[in-house]
Amino acid sequence: SSSSHPREGGYDLVVVANRLPVDFTVDADGGVDWQRSPGGLVTALEPVMREAEGAWVGWSGAPDLEHEPFEADGMLLVPVTLGQDEIERYYEGFSNDTLWPLYHDVISPPTYHRQWWDAYRRVNRRFAEAAAEQAAEGAVVWVHDYQLQLVPKMLRDLRPDLRIGFFDHIPFPAVELFQQLPWRTQIVEGLLGADLIGFQRGGDASNFVRSVRRLTKHTTRGPIITVADEDGGPARHVRAAAFPISIDSHHFDALAREPEVQARAKEIRADLGNPGIMMLGVDRLDYTKGIRHRIKAYGELLQDGRLDVERATLVQVASPSRENVGAYQELREHVEVLVGRINGEFGELGHSAIHYLHHSYPPAEMAALYLAADVMLVTSLRDGMNLVAKEYIAARSDEQGVLVLSEFTGAADELAPGPLLVNPHDIDGMKDTIVAAANMPPKEQRRRMRRLRRKVMADDVAKWSQTFLGVLTAMPPRTSHG
Ligand code: G6P
Repeated sequence: SSSSHPREGGYDLVVVANRLPVDFTVDADGGVDWQRSPGGLVTALEPVMREAEGAWVGWSGAPDLEHEPFEADGMLLVPVTLGQDEIERYYEGFSNDTLWPLYHDVISPPTYHRQWWDAYRRVNRRFAEAAAEQAAEGAVVWVHDYQLQLVPKMLRDLRPDLRIGFFDHIPFPAVELFQQLPWRTQIVEGLLGADLIGFQRGGDASNFVRSVRRLTKHTTRGPIITVADEDGGPARHVRAAAFPISIDSHHFDALAREPEVQARAKEIRADLGNPGIMMLGVDRLDYTKGIRHRIKAYGELLQDGRLDVERATLVQVASPSRENVGAYQELREHVEVLVGRINGEFGELGHSAIHYLHHSYPPAEMAALYLAADVMLVTSLRDGMNLVAKEYIAARSDEQGVLVLSEFTGAADELAPGPLLVNPHDIDGMKDTIVAAANMPPKEQRRRMRRLRRKVMADDVAKWSQTFLGVLTAMPPRTSHG
């Protein structure tokens, strides 16, 4: 058989994600150093990883980096090596220039390249083999996100004894779009190697089930898909359901209460000239985020005289992302031209219309920015969840501030009716909502923010991972065919 055997005393919980939860740095002599990167996923999984003898399989972010598995913070980190042309074809190509735009409703046109698909398959197999090698007999393996959709099936073929979960962090598109993908059936079959497939929204899960019905012969009943065994063995049941992700709300709330952070928030406002209204956008510089639509609406409000630079300012943090992908380079050009034009036209000495920051900042600085902002603008054209919206809410223990939130985010499904919802394609509607947010009385802000905080503080990321793993481990165990 093709099965590989579990390593003696392997790991009971194995997380498989494109990125490792550490940042690697390679010095001049080729020596490798690493630092814990404070991503949301690692915070979510750290307690369960510690408790369960966890291993984390992922890419370091650097080309050709070969490194033995090593212990860090109570878990085993298992680096997967990617060569330069695998980074170009699997990561920048198939993951971020094919799947990413396709899954975000083709906001940018996806590119379909057979060589990229070959690299995607090859790299997915490498991740599956690394996971198979680390997992103990009967272990739980949790695979994450669109970069690794073939891993569940590849892993099941290697290790039928495992319980396999998959979580899709981004939207799953309608079948009418998904069927553009030349390898759509392989992707669906790849995912169906899992026992449990999690999505951000109920709508994503039902889009997936519709794709199963349209593209395969498997039968479905509500959220349950029955997958017949190719070798005539008993059929398997796969569940597809929503598990909306969250943040470490209590940690963020505590961070924003720290005196240094509170002082920094005041300093930010003072540096901006203590504006009457500070608006804030925080995004990876990505075309799904609706940054251009937001800035267009803001510029028109200045043009119309409904806002003026002596009273209001917009701070836009756009953190660098996927800078080798053409669509991201074009977006950067467009945003920077637009910001420059608006600042040139409406700015005054000492009063910029838009403060544009192409940087990323540590969590404490983000918390200070959230505290400083009267209005938070989240205007994505499509977004799996959007954790910035949740961070803003968690930071505001003062129960002030207004969240303007796109209908096209997973967060909107969960948080309505607390935020002011917008359709970012409707520029006039968005303008009216931004003005309403700027003028909302403190009492109304408090009423809404209280409601939002009740939700976000109760549903944190620890609850998310416990719920997912709870459902996965409650599924009937299977016996090994080793
Ligand atoms: C999204 C994806 C993640 C990804 C992150 C950053 O949140 O769902 O899988 O890690 O963006 O993108 P990057 O390409 O830098 O990993």
